[in-house]
Amino acid sequence: MKIISVVGARPNFMKIAPFCRAIESFNSKTNKRINHILVHTGQHYDDRMSNTFFDTLNIPKADINLNIGSGSHAEQVGNTMISFEKILIKENPDWVVVVGDVNATLACSVTAKKLKIKVCHIEAGLRSRDLGMPEEINRLVTDRLSDLLLTPDELSANNLRAEGVSEKNISYVGNIMIDTLEAHIDQAKQLNVLHVVQDNLHENDFYRSKNIVFQEPERYVVLTMHRPSNVDDCKVLEPIVKFLTEEVAKDLTLIWPIHPRAEKQLGTFDLLEKVIQTPNLILLKPLGYHDMLRLNMGAQVMLTDSGGLQEECCVLGTPCLTMRWNTERPITLREHGGASVLVGNDVDKLRAEYLNALSLDRMPFRPGFWDGNAASRCLEAILNY
Ligand code: UD1
Repeated sequence: MKIISVVGARPNFMKIAPFCRAIESFNSKTNKRINHILVHTGQHYDDRMSNTFFDTLNIPKADINLNIGSGSHAEQVGNTMISFEKILIKENPDWVVVVGDVNATLACSVTAKKLKIKVCHIEAGLRSRDLGMPEEINRLVTDRLSDLLLTPDELSANNLRAEGVSEKNISYVGNIMIDTLEAHIDQAKQLNVLHVVQDNLHENDFYRSKNIVFQEPERYVVLTMHRPSNVDDCKVLEPIVKFLTEEVAKDLTLIWPIHPRAEKQLGTFDLLEKVIQTPNLILLKPLGYHDMLRLNMGAQVMLTDSGGLQEECCVLGTPCLTMRWNTERPITLREHGGASVLVGNDVDKLRAEYLNALSLDRMPFRPGFWDGNAASRCLEAILNY
């Protein structure tokens, strides 16, 4: 059997790592060999957004890099399709395996399906029901075309059933990202928060620029933010920045590993200087996997619009304020037993939930099959299809 699996952007890397290992383990234990080709579309290309994850998570070097880089959605998807089609024609795999919901997921599933190659989607069935979100379009198209839909939870499997997907195409395998968390949590525990901060200071950080030495923060809040809905509109971003700099950082240390999109937009709206000049706000470069996991483990509160962090907070129990009006991962919400609450980008709601979250204890929660063994169930589902 020949499988091509695809990664494109940061959140794909933690999902593909365990799948690569599951194939390696299958090949070493049986005499049937899976020929596995890993393709990186190159949507994320910086060391800190890409290469570091290959090293830390022991992902084999991609066999093929399409070097797509940045661009509009149409450019990224179109360029990926043109390059990927050539690979598929040459390699003619039995399966294309895509993960998550980024532009690579969409582009490669469409290209494979048009060439009549079977598509397997890992992390199928997630729905935010918000078509203003590019990832929702990617999820809908990918799931509509996929032959095998591997879901992280029952809610996602039910979404697929409600859309008319046949039972034989759905398999509830659990959350593959939690395989990665399980495999790396002990290494993350060894890290010291102060070192994580010192080693990753952004070149414009306040402390770095003033050469101020700081102590390990006793209590800190972590922020990540990159969604177009939060960072692309000044009317939305400015009040959030005001809240963060004038309220959150007043009381507690605010640690912000900044995403390139957010940094660019802060610059465009003349807000970057305010962020840099705020004492108690520590600006970091994008973090590696272990560093982020370590910060999450000790955070008083997580403020985020990321999908993956909602899930990691759920398992670690970190009170999480999800800066979105909807989530494709409702299982992580408090009403389902998780640690997260939706706060959108309305500052009054954000403030109220933030103050509330400060008094919450950690409440770790593990939905079914978030047990570190999802990748082997993914491979089993493909082999049994
Ligand atoms: C993408 C994904 C999103 C995911 C996020 C995580 C899509 C539609 N979106 O959004 O689902 O949550 O990644 O990071 O696929 N850039 C760099 N260095 C890089 C990569 C990007 O500087 O290595 C810059 C680009 O030039 C661009 C910006 O970051 O200006 C955004 O990158 P892009 O790939 O367009 O989307 P993300 O917002 O990262």
